[in-house]
Amino acid sequence: MISLDSIKAPIAKEMDSFEDKFRQSMKSSVPLLDKITHYIVKRKGKQIRPMFVFLSAQALGGITESTHRGAALIELLHTATLVHDDVVDDSFERRGFFSINALWKNKIAVLVGDYLLSRGLLLAIKNKEFKQLEIVSAAVEGMSEGELLQIEESRGVNLKEDIYFEIIRQKTATLIASCCACGASSAGANDEMIEKMRNIGEKIGIAFQIKDDLFDYGLGGKIGKPTGIDIKEKKSTLPLIYALNNASSSDKRRILRIVKRNSKNKKEVDHVINYVLQSGGIEYSDEKMRNYASNAIDEIKSLPETEARNSLIQLVQFTIDREK
Ligand code: IPE
Ligand code: IPE
Ligand code: MG
Ligand code: MG
Repeated sequence: MISLDSIKAPIAKEMDSFEDKFRQSMKSSVPLLDKITHYIVKRKGKQIRPMFVFLSAQALGGITESTHRGAALIELLHTATLVHDDVVDDSFERRGFFSINALWKNKIAVLVGDYLLSRGLLLAIKNKEFKQLEIVSAAVEGMSEGELLQIEESRGVNLKEDIYFEIIRQKTATLIASCCACGASSAGANDEMIEKMRNIGEKIGIAFQIKDDLFDYGLGGKIGKPTGIDIKEKKSTLPLIYALNNASSSDKRRILRIVKRNSKNKKEVDHVINYVLQSGGIEYSDEKMRNYASNAIDEIKSLPETEARNSLIQLVQFTIDREK
């Protein structure tokens, strides 16, 4: 598998200065906030979203000041949603360490998430980045709608595949779509090109979330967050949906009963996981994921051939091959 560092090569300088800007953008004079944002910056994630912003800009005319702001804005919003997501999912591990809610409790995590969101919005407003703000706000709206749709739909558990795709499109793909759109916009691309890039990003984002949902089945190594948590939280994801669609009615009833009970019992959760593993649900999801990624790659290939465009293709490949 190609490494993130080599994919970063055409934007290495920009990613370095991004880190600085990102750290600065969180600074607060409130000691508790400063302590927590320090903790967050030290345990950074893959920073895949800023990479999509920079590579999209580079592929479409060149990185500008505005590209830098877009990258920081999006990573701030991403971080805010992760802090909130761990509250919503009752999850105590993130990026290989304790989550914010695990260390400081829900109350503080909710407020820290709001703080990060507001810092992102202010960063854009202070620099009059209204176009970026429009692109990104639509994504934030979609993310909240997606997470709520997921909660509403998970009550019934027997989720239809098209609703699953609508949930992940909203909660995850809209933000990655906004990375590609912001990158294009910051490089001066026209509206048609911005929309094309948004579309490409959406496909990448769907593949990205299917991969994330596959991780929950614990097939890989250390991913830095808990596995098996989706079933505990009554989240039906593609592997389970496929398994249920192909189950006998008695198997279906049994599996649904366990999931609906909101079981945190390891033996029961393992039973569901093993059922899904032997159903072919993993292979089915893997194939869907590859389809979305390869459609995205085909569209990227229609951009002018540059080093950045090739890195963009490799970053899509990384999205589906990654181990965390
Ligand atoms: C996690 O995103 C949230 C999802 C949309 C599944 P990442 O896997 O990109 O998280 P970090 O930033 O690298 O930790
Ligand atoms: C959440 O999906 C994606 C967001 C919009 C934050 P998950 O709940 O599956 O993300 P992880 O697995 O906790 O990162
Ligand atoms: Mg979660
Ligand atoms: Mg997940």
